[in-house]
Parts: sequence; structure tokens; C-alpha cells
Amino acid sequence: MSKLFDLTGKVAVALGGNSTLGGSMAKGLAEHGAKVAIVGRNLDTAEEVVKEIKNAGGEAKAFKADVSDLSTVESVATEIEEWSGGWDILLNAPGMNSTTPYLELTTEEWDKIMDVNLKGIVFATQIFAKKMVEQQRGGSIINISSVSSTTPLSKVFTYSASKAAINSVTQYLAREFAPHNIRVNAIIPGFFPAEQNRKILSEDRVQSIMNHTPIKRFGDPEELQGATVYLASDKASGFVTGELLRVDGGFGSMTI
Ligand SMILES: NC(=O)c1ccc[n+]([C@@H]2O[C@H](COP(=O)([O-])OP(=O)(O)OC[C@H]3O[C@@H](n4cnc5c(N)ncnc54)[C@H](O)[C@@H]3O)[C@@H](O)[C@H]2O)c1
Repeated sequence: MSKLFDLTGKVAVALGGNSTLGGSMAKGLAEHGAKVAIVGRNLDTAEEVVKEIKNAGGEAKAFKADVSDLSTVESVATEIEEWSGGWDILLNAPGMNSTTPYLELTTEEWDKIMDVNLKGIVFATQIFAKKMVEQQRGGSIINISSVSSTTPLSKVFTYSASKAAINSVTQYLAREFAPHNIRVNAIIPGFFPAEQNRKILSEDRVQSIMNHTPIKRFGDPEELQGATVYLASDKASGFVTGELLRVDGGFGSMTI
């Protein structure tokens, strides 16, 4: 394996590592040698990802936490520390979506989504980053943003606001953690069919997505592994921080 992308000896924490995209990204990290903590709200689906990693010869363990309940994140960080002694890579994948139009949106629904997509990510990162700073061995934090973070997509008001904020958080923390040699970047995935967006992928919308995607297809979650391993590896991307890296089939490069 090229040394540039070798993660042997590194520990990765994949929050939402049981998700469609997060699971694939976690598998990519494991395949390149990282020992991976798969953290999900649902332990059964986290165990499934662990099984796939182990079957492929990798090392992983499933943990349970809900990023909208930070006491569970504190507890899981302690459990992961007991298992691995620390971590070098944090992947932030949890995310929720909703199609409620702005004029019908309630504060309860706004809070529910923001508690996961923004507050959950900000404060879970705080918990894991404190340890990274203490360890003094640098590291890489990778957030998952969205094409909706730059020019918002229709029908996903709260989601778009949350992901725009994730871009800002990514760039702010890149500056904050640079003195500790911890890099913070985000991946901007285009469209990948998954549980959270299934309800908004109507026939019309799919057509419209394809019209705006030069590569003319959905992404395959495995196509996020290259960007993830690149951003995780200090050897490959040691001078890259605050980057918002698109993996979107060209969607963000096209207007009409
Ligand atoms: N699928 C896409 O096209 C696409 C595009 C851009 C960004 N994303 C982002 O990718 C990430 C993964 O989503 P996905 O598309 O794989 O969908 P998914 O439905 O498979 O996964 C969503 C994940 O979020 C987790 N989650 C939700 N609420 C949580 C909570 N309170 N605590 C912990 N975990 C919680 C779920 O358990 C699941 O692991 C999300 O951040 C999503 O916004 C997806």
C-alpha cells in the first residue's frame, strides 16, 4: 500500500459510522489500516458495519451514542478510550433531514434537526477534540457537509441552514486547532441515495438532480472513501485544513 494513504496505527472514531455514507467512509479508513470505533444510535446497525470490517480483515468495535444527548457522547468517549487509548481521526456523519416548508416549520422541528446536524456535531467534536489536544499527536477531523450548504437546495430549509453552518464550523475550527496540528476539513457529497433523503427523491427531483449532475448518476458511497482516506492521512493531506472538498459528480460546478 502506498505510504501516502497508510493509516496503520491510527484510531478513527466514526460518529454515525452506521449510516450509508458514514459506514462506507469508515470501511475505507479500516481498509487502509485504521482501527475504527463505529458509533451509532442503533447498536445493531453499528455491529453490521463492524462485521463487514472484520470480514475484510480490519479492526473495529461498535459503540452506542446519540449525538443529540451529549451525556451519551461523554460516556462513549470514555468507552472508546478504554478500548483504544485515544484517537487520531474523527469522522462526523450523523445527519437528519426534513421537507417541512419554512412557513410551516415549528421551533420543535428546527431544534430536533439542529440538535443532531449542528449542536450535536459541534459538542461531540468538542468532547473528542479535547482528548486530541491533550494527546499532542495531531489528528484529522472530517465533517460531512452537503451541496445544500453553499447554494441551498429547495425543500430542505433547516437541513441547508445546518450544513451551511457546518462549513463555517469546519473553517473556524481549522484555524482554532492548527496550532495543535489537528486538521479540520469537510466533504461535500453530492447525491447518494440513503435513508435520510429517500423521502425527498421523487421522480421529478431525481430528474432535476440528474440535469444538474454532469456525471449523470447518483454517487456510490464507496466513491467517498478516497476523499476520506486522503483527508485522514497526514502524509497525503498534511497541509490541507479548512477545505470543503466536493465529491458530487460536478453538481456544484453547474448552474443551468
Ligand atoms: N446521502 C446523501 O446524498 C448525502 C449528501 C450530502 C450529505 N449527506 C450527509 O451524510 C451523512 C450520513 O447520512 P446518509 O445519507 O448516509 O443517511 P443515513 O440515513 O444512512 O444516515 C444518517 C445517520 O445519522 C444518524 N443519526 C441521526 N440522528 C442521530 C442522532 N441523534 N445521534 C446519532 N446519530 C444520528 C443515523 O443513525 C444514521 O447513522 C449525514 O450527515 C447527511 O446529511 C448525505
